[in-house]
Amino acid sequence: MTIGLFDSGLGGLTIYDSVARRMPDVPIAYLGDNRNAPYGVRDADDIFQLTCSGVEMLWRLGCRLVILACNTASAVALKRIQETWLPADKRVLGVFVPMIEVLTERRWGDQSQPREVDVKNVALFATPATVASRAFQRELAFRAIGVDVEAQPCGGLVDAIEANDDILAEALVRSHVEALLRRMPNPEAAILACTHYPLFQRAFQDALGPKVKCVSQANLVAESLADYLERHPNMLATSGTGGFYTTADAESVSRKATRFLGRKIEFESV
Ligand code: DGL
Repeated sequence: MTIGLFDSGLGGLTIYDSVARRMPDVPIAYLGDNRNAPYGVRDADDIFQLTCSGVEMLWRLGCRLVILACNTASAVALKRIQETWLPADKRVLGVFVPMIEVLTERRWGDQSQPREVDVKNVALFATPATVASRAFQRELAFRAIGVDVEAQPCGGLVDAIEANDDILAEALVRSHVEALLRRMPNPEAAILACTHYPLFQRAFQDALGPKVKCVSQANLVAESLADYLERHPNMLATSGTGGFYTTADAESVSRKATRFLGRKIEFESV
């Protein structure tokens, strides 16, 4: 049995890296739905259907617990998956809530009333579908009051990153940051709510300036998963070999992934 990580493409590898570093003995099966990426410009039904197919593939690969290492799928499809689709013996978790818990100074699963927190102005960078879902604002409102969120849909950025077009990606980061800063000139924190974006964290930080704290999602997710597995040891994978799987051509995805993570990664097509 292995733990499954799912993303529309390569972005979830940023989460994979942190999880593998935090829990080196846990076998992980990573699936990128590269054939259908990007998800961020699709409608909610489409994202739900594609995410369910991806999760089913990971079940067939022997996973009982799947992490949606994709903010778009987490924001748009996770609630519906958990409420309407998930069999009792399986679990699907997302990457959104751990980030919000840290921002709102909460421990995992703290269900107390929403309260005031230090951060008052938050810049949110995400795909158009994540921004349209308003899932971030909804989850935040359960936990904190008085936080102003300005969200910027970063159209085109995932395509540029998947295509390895760094020049275009950096130009898009600058223009999306400028657009947001025109509406919110002094954010205290920035959330890169797409697993592709940490690869361009430096470009975001340069454009935002040194006073803005960029929240790093990957490490938070790895910590929160380790905590979850401690409390749910029956979900802990102890056998299986893991591996990297894609719905697209394995050779070209392996080439991109190797460049993406800066070390050799070999994908298999499913
Ligand atoms: N990396 C994903 C996310 O975190 C999805 C990007 C996309 O497919 O548009 O949102």
